[in-house]
Amino acid sequence: MSRKKRTTVWKDVTLLTMVGDYGLIDDGAIAVTAGRIVWLGRAADLPTTYAEAHVISCGGNFMTPGLIDCHTHLVYGGSRVAEFEKRLTGVSYADIAREGGGILSTVRATRATDEDMLYFLAEKRLAQLQKSGVTTVEIKSGYGLDLENEMKMLRVARKLGQGPSMDVVTTFLGAHALPPEFNGDSEGYMDYVCGDMLAAVAQENLADAVDAFCEDIAFSRDQVERLFVKARELGLPVKLHAEQLSDSGGAKLAAKYGALSADHLEYLDEDGVRQMAAASMVAVLLPGAFYTLRDDHQPPVDLFRKHGVPMAVASDSNPGSSPVLSLSLMINMASTLFRLTPQEALAGVTRNAARALGLDDRGVLAVGRKADFALWDIRHPAELAYQVGGNPCVGVVKDGKVVF
Ligand code: NIG
Ligand code: FE
Repeated sequence: MSRKKRTTVWKDVTLLTMVGDYGLIDDGAIAVTAGRIVWLGRAADLPTTYAEAHVISCGGNFMTPGLIDCHTHLVYGGSRVAEFEKRLTGVSYADIAREGGGILSTVRATRATDEDMLYFLAEKRLAQLQKSGVTTVEIKSGYGLDLENEMKMLRVARKLGQGPSMDVVTTFLGAHALPPEFNGDSEGYMDYVCGDMLAAVAQENLADAVDAFCEDIAFSRDQVERLFVKARELGLPVKLHAEQLSDSGGAKLAAKYGALSADHLEYLDEDGVRQMAAASMVAVLLPGAFYTLRDDHQPPVDLFRKHGVPMAVASDSNPGSSPVLSLSLMINMASTLFRLTPQEALAGVTRNAARALGLDDRGVLAVGRKADFALWDIRHPAELAYQVGGNPCVGVVKDGKVVF
């Protein structure tokens, strides 16, 4: 087959390549062969080699890289709607967790749900996320909290990534909460997580990274450090839920272990930001959890700018702190709640999100990168941050094929 036959050229489009700032190209065109970008630029400059390629008009819409949701807990059973109502009466997230609700109530429900049903439920959530332009999603375990159920969650996550329309990156979060059978023995549970659980997960290649929840209501710095040492021995990259509810020194520990990212970070201090910068980490901001928990402690966005720490933005989609199923809504919230510029917020769900997952083949529109695109019915790039609640996404292309 000749190159002409195998190539598709997308035209009548404004490209936001996300190389540099927006990397805006008016009257653009982008050529794709075998799922990869082979050329992009002004349509008027399209090389004649592509003259006979298959052409698709984008109708004057904008195109961005396919969005990347780099922090989710999408696989779970049950519902936390009763807890939502309780929090509205003034009971805090941490109090609910201490009383055995919160994450542990989702653990009970997830253990009681079989693999097929977990897949069915998560697939529906994934379909919603896709409608907001997402082509790559990270999914964590962490609602199983024993070998069998953590593996079950990770198998479901892996299977969700086997279809043509979404890439899934998996993360082992066995150190999410203390399960009831280890009540009062968090050291014993950490032995289990760092020993049998991590070994089995690595053996079956079920996780691309290892995460933990470092907080008063979860695990201490020392406990997380033991896990990071083991992850390093197995060659698995690490990341951390850090400084969400208090300053526990989690991000600094993550920096010491060369983590890909630290996530949440509302209570991070300047020294922590400096250490993240020195370790080339990404700060993953989660405005959906900030919003849902009615937090009022802002993550240190100015300090991330000052020290050059790239900011990613993710949904944190989970049944408790962030029941969010739209990444484009997170672009809006990152701007409105955290005062990211619309350009920073979009970089947060593209270029910087790719980096938070250690992926260098996506997140920008450039020659050689994956042909993962989202198409938007907008006329100015800042509209992506400006709109609330509608859905300006009018198309999603994955590996060069239209999937929505
Ligand atoms: O990222 N912070 C800890 N874990 C999740 C919440 C999970 C839950 O409440 O079920 C988070 O916010
Ligand atoms: Fe999370």
